[in-house]
Amino acid sequence: MLSTLPRLIGHRGAKENAPENTLASIREAARQGARWVEVDVMLTRDQRPVLIHDDTLDRTTTGTGPVPLMALAELRRLDAGRWFDAGFVGEQVPTLEEAAALIHDLGLGLNLEIKPYPGQEEITAEVALNTLRPLWPAGRPLLLSSFEVPCLEVAQRLWPEIPRGYLLWDPPADWAAIADRIGAATLNVDQERQTADSVAEYRATGRPVLSYTVNDADRARTLFGWGVSAVFTDAPGRLARELGPDA
Ligand code: G3P
Ligand code: MG
Repeated sequence: MLSTLPRLIGHRGAKENAPENTLASIREAARQGARWVEVDVMLTRDQRPVLIHDDTLDRTTTGTGPVPLMALAELRRLDAGRWFDAGFVGEQVPTLEEAAALIHDLGLGLNLEIKPYPGQEEITAEVALNTLRPLWPAGRPLLLSSFEVPCLEVAQRLWPEIPRGYLLWDPPADWAAIADRIGAATLNVDQERQTADSVAEYRATGRPVLSYTVNDADRARTLFGWGVSAVFTDAPGRLARELGPDA
């Protein structure tokens, strides 16, 4: 599963050039040559898994208010591309099913970040995984990740053979014990907080270190030099060109 992990993972698709977490953004990442994409999944009011990052609709759609107050049918009437650029008017918030089918058709690997609305950690993981599992072809690269330990515990219970990435921003003192307990395969860490020492400490646990979000080639080179395996980038094509053989 992780043997095909590329250096560059398209963040929310290709967020620099297309509206994040839309089908257009996933297509754009593939067009730019990305081999894996990361997207965020949350539940609607009727517990359908959809791709969206924020707790509220306001920033990335024509709607307002918390995502879990809106049913899928209502959500689908919103525009998720207009805020980004007039060329993307008509993009919808995708369902996880649609996104998984497109990612498969494009031959991409997937990092699904389980992004629960606060208080919905377990149900979000359960629904997302029970939705994805029957659709996801055996052998296609998949990494499940979350900042929320309860989501990773659900993943461990429901779909143990799929690797889990433990997302860290401000790591708790016992992050290493938690990583062991949940059987984390990777540590996915905030790039701005990293130093050579911090990356060495994470790597000392024997896990690949992935880092988000890196849009600058010099910073990517530094992180790779410290032993980071892959970076999440909003601009997979541009960064690949700028990095050249380092990508
Ligand atoms: O999974 C990497 C990265 O996406 C985590 O942060 O807030 O962009 O979802 P965020
Ligand atoms: Mg994310």
